[in-house]
Amino acid sequence: MKKSTLAIGLTLITLLVACERKEHVSIIPIPLSVELQTKVFTLNEHTQLWTNASNGEETFLKEYAIKHQLGVWSDERPVSNAIILEIVDTLPDIETPEGYMLLTDKSGVKISALSEAGLFYGIQTLLQMTSEEKTIAHGKIIDEPRFEYRGMMLDVSRHFFGVDFIKKQIEAMAYYKLNHLHLHLTDAAGWRIEIKRYPELTQQAAWRTHALWKDWWNNDRLYINKEEENAYGGFYTQEQIREIVDYAQKHYITVIPEIEMPSHSEEVLAVYPELSCSHIPYKESDFCAGNDKVFEFIENVLLEIMELFPSHYIHIGGDEASKQSWKECLLCKARMQEEGIDSVDELQSYFIHRIESFLNAHERNLLGWDEILDGGLAPNATVMSWRGTEGGLKAMRMGHRAIMTPGEFCYFDAYQDAPHTQPEAFGGYLPLQKVYSYDPIPDTLDSKTAKLLYGVQGNLFAEYIPTEEHMEYMAYPRILALAEVAWSAPKNKSFEDFHARALKAVEDLRTKGYHPFDLCHEVGNRPGADKPVRHLGVGKQVVYADGSAYYKGYSAGGDSALVDGVRGGWTYGDKHWQGFLGRKGVDVIIDLGKTLPITSISADFMQICGPGVFMPACVIISISHDGETFTELKREDIKVVKDDAVTFKTFGWEGASKARYVRYQAQRSDFGGFLFVDEIVIK
Ligand code: ACM
Repeated sequence: MKKSTLAIGLTLITLLVACERKEHVSIIPIPLSVELQTKVFTLNEHTQLWTNASNGEETFLKEYAIKHQLGVWSDERPVSNAIILEIVDTLPDIETPEGYMLLTDKSGVKISALSEAGLFYGIQTLLQMTSEEKTIAHGKIIDEPRFEYRGMMLDVSRHFFGVDFIKKQIEAMAYYKLNHLHLHLTDAAGWRIEIKRYPELTQQAAWRTHALWKDWWNNDRLYINKEEENAYGGFYTQEQIREIVDYAQKHYITVIPEIEMPSHSEEVLAVYPELSCSHIPYKESDFCAGNDKVFEFIENVLLEIMELFPSHYIHIGGDEASKQSWKECLLCKARMQEEGIDSVDELQSYFIHRIESFLNAHERNLLGWDEILDGGLAPNATVMSWRGTEGGLKAMRMGHRAIMTPGEFCYFDAYQDAPHTQPEAFGGYLPLQKVYSYDPIPDTLDSKTAKLLYGVQGNLFAEYIPTEEHMEYMAYPRILALAEVAWSAPKNKSFEDFHARALKAVEDLRTKGYHPFDLCHEVGNRPGADKPVRHLGVGKQVVYADGSAYYKGYSAGGDSALVDGVRGGWTYGDKHWQGFLGRKGVDVIIDLGKTLPITSISADFMQICGPGVFMPACVIISISHDGETFTELKREDIKVVKDDAVTFKTFGWEGASKARYVRYQAQRSDFGGFLFVDEIVIK
């Protein structure tokens, strides 16, 4: 066999092995307990469906079961070839209304639950088990969720997604037992919901000059009239919102609207500049916190929102307020004086408290990103923790509920595979396995506080997600991993087993017209990132020259990071890349302890221009016997070019020499920003 044929043959074998899946119960999320036998019950066109669920619910359960071809309807309880959906008063081993028991024997399938939601989830399990063949093994499944809140967030502001797309995602969410759809309806990139009292919000603030968020963001960030040529945007009419909410409700999904405040509101302030501190359009992103007209506006908007969304929670954003204009604004200063407020953080807290009182007066509760903790949390608020988990944990310790959605595990706008194989993403690297590995309850949390952990959510912010296909590609199958985090008992979780089920789910999703990531051909982490690298410098002392300190937030473990034998992966955020923000760049000396023969010295750098991470402009590698006098081995000038790619490059020297000290210098380019290096490898 020729070498190339051998290589192709081996690649094919590898792919086949990689995509092979074991036969087992292919249910996502994995149920609490599954006992199955070898005998099977076979569904056919005469299988009869029956339920004792209440009339209203029966209609949809019936419609749903028939639509999914589980059988024909029977008004009498059938005794054979039957699918029984039965509400019961008690169920052994099940405590939550969403739980169910699924029993199969020769007479058919019986799903019992304490509520219609439980029956619905039992149906999802049945549908998954019969998705390939219309047979189901005799036996018993007992199942209930770990967390009450199992969410997905769709950002429809940065790019707009229509009603049919949302309904399609609702169907998939239900299939995987997710029960909250959070719609990020407003942001700088466009206001996306009809508010009858404020028509300019959808006449102008919903439309912009460029279709791609990136083009719009990198140009003038202008809003234009809906009728203007090339206007990009859109919004949901109130009728469409009702349609979405109703469709979601039928699938046991609550839709939570997010209306951003006090910041991320450029689009509102462009059309109603009098609601900003300066009254100048296109100047600020924060509402003025001193102007009562702002509260009047927000309350009027929220009245229409509450009319449309029956959800217990209204999400008010609360993230990333700059608060700068508040420091100079006469109205904000007057408000602070009047209320005895000392800082703009407290002024934000005043803002959120005031909105919370309004929502509470209308029997709704406030949900906000973890910045709502700053300056004091409103008394009944629930925190959605995105900047890590600390905010959520803090809220829980204060007796508040929290929903965990930390960026590291739950932001699906990150790359899910090797960046060079993927469409441009926000950055980061969040493969399926990492999502799956998330456990929102740390060992250190006592059980009483842990009860306040309401659930978890996967977020799809859409700056780099311009199309429906792309949105699905980023969501699936990662949201399936999160569904299992949210629903399944930790003792039942195994990534290997989940991966096999996810491969099947990806095929299934594709058959149904979704556009999931091609999990079967996942490349995986950066070569070398998952195993230690051995070299002469490992464990040796590193001295950082004056002015070449690493940035605290990207220390990668501190002074030993550059010689710890651990390579970085596809993202500088993985705690293995050390970041340098100072003007001096990297300038480190490694003491090998004694003079040793050396044949190579190298280091890898990465570039991702969006967050300001660049290649070095110059690398200098030197050696010394005494640590005082250094001899230059190599000096390399690098042309740093801005682009959209995520790139990795090695800069090094090879030859034959001897030294005790190795000095590695890397200078920043004119773009400034960060240098990131993971390891200085000396051989
Ligand atoms: C957020 O990602 N700014 C909540």
